[in-house]
Amino acid sequence: MAEEFNNGNIDDWNELMLIYTAALKQIGTKIEILNDEFQQAHSYNPIEHVKSRLKSPESIVKKLRKHGLESTMENMVEHVNDIAGIRIICSFTSDIYRIADIISNQSDIRVVSVKDYIIFPKASGYKSYHMIVKTPVYLSDRIFDAKVEIQIRTVAMDFWASLEHKMNYKFEGKAPDGLQQELIDCAKIVWMLDEKMLQLNEEVQNYNLQQEEKEEQEE
Ligand code: GTP
Ligand code: MG
Repeated sequence: MAEEFNNGNIDDWNELMLIYTAALKQIGTKIEILNDEFQQAHSYNPIEHVKSRLKSPESIVKKLRKHGLESTMENMVEHVNDIAGIRIICSFTSDIYRIADIISNQSDIRVVSVKDYIIFPKASGYKSYHMIVKTPVYLSDRIFDAKVEIQIRTVAMDFWASLEHKMNYKFEGKAPDGLQQELIDCAKIVWMLDEKMLQLNEEVQNYNLQQEEKEEQEE
């Protein structure tokens, strides 16, 4: 597939893939460290799980074509922002912003753009927090600033997005009206669920705090 790309050779292609794989590893490690530290300091795991993927050459070509661009490596590096993609699934909406903030503040990460589909959900009902970041990958003779797409969402948002993705795939983006509406209704239930779970969690935490204060007073 790499041969679809003009004015490049297979070594360049392989090197580029190695760079994006390295960028995914770097961000993946950062997230793992954050989760470990949270566990240690607050006895709490903000992250349920993390998935990462490298975009397939077929999808890269398709995206370039969609934008009317030639399949060159320059175009790919410049215009395809999600060659390296990482998805962070958390329990609560508040975790999403906490994680996004911490990642953004790291000195070797530069945020290129943010799309907050939680405050502004898509018409489909899709909710998620997206960031395109750049991170330096150190090679033997140079530094390459690689773009990585980070998607952060709750378990409930992820559940919805996978079903919606499956349906879109099945109906090639044109799901029957009835189903479309049901998906939108489901999205609203997901939003409500996320809000309720967040409230409940806050109540539990407040309760724990009050218990601790009481125990301290009794001592
Ligand atoms: P793409 O060309 O699809 O990558 O979109 P974009 O460049 O305008 O970026 P955007 O932030 O809107 O979407 C990036 C990614 O978010 C997509 O590749 C999907 O993984 C996910 N996504 C965006 N919208 C939806 C949606 O309506 N449903 C689902 N299931 N996923 C979505
Ligand atoms: Mg994409």
